[in-house]
Amino acid sequence: MVGRALVAHCRASGDLVFSYDHHSLDISDADGVMRRVQEDRPEAVINCAAWTDVDGCERDHERAFAANARGPENLALASRQLGAVLITISTDYVFAGDKDGFYTQRDQPHPISVYGISKLEGERSAQQAWARTAVVRTGFVFGAGGNNFLSTIISRASRGERLKAIGDAYGTPTYAPDLAQRLRELAVLDLPGIFHVVNAGPGVSYAEFGRAALDLGGFTSLPLESVLGDSLSRPAPRPRNSRLHCLLSAAIGLAPLPLWSEALENFAALDALTGAASKS
Ligand SMILES: NC(=O)c1ccc[n+]([C@@H]2O[C@H](COP(=O)([O-])OP(=O)(O)OC[C@H]3O[C@@H](n4cnc5c(N)ncnc54)[C@H](OP(=O)(O)O)[C@@H]3O)[C@@H](O)[C@H]2O)c1
Repeated sequence: MVGRALVAHCRASGDLVFSYDHHSLDISDADGVMRRVQEDRPEAVINCAAWTDVDGCERDHERAFAANARGPENLALASRQLGAVLITISTDYVFAGDKDGFYTQRDQPHPISVYGISKLEGERSAQQAWARTAVVRTGFVFGAGGNNFLSTIISRASRGERLKAIGDAYGTPTYAPDLAQRLRELAVLDLPGIFHVVNAGPGVSYAEFGRAALDLGGFTSLPLESVLGDSLSRPAPRPRNSRLHCLLSAAIGLAPLPLWSEALENFAALDALTGAASKS
């Protein structure tokens, strides 16, 4: 989802972009990554690849760590060899979720799922392998393509299924094209460190976010049941609160991203929140 948005944004900005999917480049293959980067000789490497199946990661630790920890490290080592800046995406799930308010870079990560642990290891191993690494933590990402909370809710709504969403877990939604724009800005700035990149606005629960999307998609009369996270008994625990705020972006002159509610309206304007679009 983010990779496609990023490629579209960079191409529209006039960049020469080499893009890969899992089939054409496995980031857990150190030799393959090194070969690819040496051949393409990019000025910037932006890693949007990850194994994002949070429950799947609980079942298959090896696959989680290969993609989410060794992958970023391999990209960092290859970027270092070439002298390219590396941006690698991480997650709000590096935090435990027991804090009130927004998580900033001053908060100590303490992941509670294998996915979160593997992503945190990816952050650290990439930063350790190459000084010119920027880690971008984000959360509640929505946009075209990929399987995410919003696409699932809308496709279920379009099939007339009963809908429920968690009402006691909060995050900060992030529109993939807005994230893509910021990823490119950070690559150009070439400032190493950890950045939190989310749309502006107060946080929202999954249930509130789903309700807003359903209303914009024309499913106003369809009920959405708000349930407690614990009632779903999923394999991976999720943070109760993973709202993010960045201490650095404003300090280096980056404007806040639009409000998530405006971003959701932009997404809806593409007809992306109607059943027809989600079914195609
Ligand atoms: N979606 C969210 O709400 C969210 C929240 C916080 C952070 N993030 C982070 O944002 C980034 C982008 O996520 P997304 O939502 O765009 O995820 P996505 O739609 O699942 O895309 C991830 C891509 O990575 C590929 N991939 C998996 N393992 C790979 C490997 N070993 N080598 C190469 N490619 C591999 C996947 O291919 P296959 O499917 O073919 O395996 C998939 O195309 C990730 O770092 C994710 O952790 C996402």
